[in-house]
Amino acid sequence: MTEQALKARGVRRTFEADLAPVRALRGVDLDVADGEFVALMGPSGCGKSTLLNIFAGLDQADEGEVMVDGLRVDGQDENWLAKFRRHHVGIVFQFFNLLEGVSALDNIALPAILGGMRRKAAETRARDLLDLLGLGDRTEEVPSVLSGGQRQRLAIARALVNEPAVLLADEPTGALDSEGGVEILELFRRLHGDGQTILMVTHSAEVAAGASRVVRMRDGRILDDDGGVARVEADDAVMVEDARP
Ligand SMILES: Nc1ncnc2c1ncn2[C@@H]1O[C@H](COP(=O)(O)OP(=O)(O)OP(=O)(O)O)[C@@H](O)[C@H]1O
Ligand SMILES: [Mg+2]
Repeated sequence: MTEQALKARGVRRTFEADLAPVRALRGVDLDVADGEFVALMGPSGCGKSTLLNIFAGLDQADEGEVMVDGLRVDGQDENWLAKFRRHHVGIVFQFFNLLEGVSALDNIALPAILGGMRRKAAETRARDLLDLLGLGDRTEEVPSVLSGGQRQRLAIARALVNEPAVLLADEPTGALDSEGGVEILELFRRLHGDGQTILMVTHSAEVAAGASRVVRMRDGRILDDDGGVARVEADDAVMVEDARP
């Protein structure tokens, strides 16, 4: 039996606003199995980031059950959530959120040290990750001299340093040109190939096509979920069509 890396049941989240409350999530059920690479799509404002932030322990559901890596995340206090974020999830944003005055190596090593790793081991792990992500020759550079694609790879390396069960990425290619976007997508596909579970929000159909499953949201609900099979069937259908005289 495959384990569930992510599970949401009846998740609701409402934000207070001046005019009327915004019902960002209106009862979301979602399961992501270990090793899946899921693209989360849907129109602006439909609740994608809200759902991702709840799985990340950055925000909390008002109602419903949230499980990540076998742990109950809903109803926990901030102290618990801070530890949870450090050890169980890796979080990647559109605009990198790197430590600007600090070397590439330390950008990765510091969260590992905060996670309880000794400096020496953390630096070794950081070097390994930088090599793996093609930044092995940029260890001493500060983020501001790196390209957008390189910065995002650095942010991904940082997210992976504590070997998270799930990589959660909110529009990781959104701030990059198409070449940079392709590079990040290929990296995600490689990580997925090595068994990394990934939930990635994207507006790009091209980027989503690189995932193993596409889930669509609308108005705070899951609208459509190809379960990882619809595209294969679609490909078959195209092949059948192509085979016609
Ligand atoms: N902290 C907040 N306070 C008030 N309203 C919020 C907050 N966060 C999100 N919202 C509202 O909740 C709804 C869902 O927002 P969310 O950021 O999840 O959308 P999204 O699908 O990620 O959109 P986008 O594609 O534009 O990033 C929106 O109407 C948004 O304005
Ligand atoms: Mg968003």
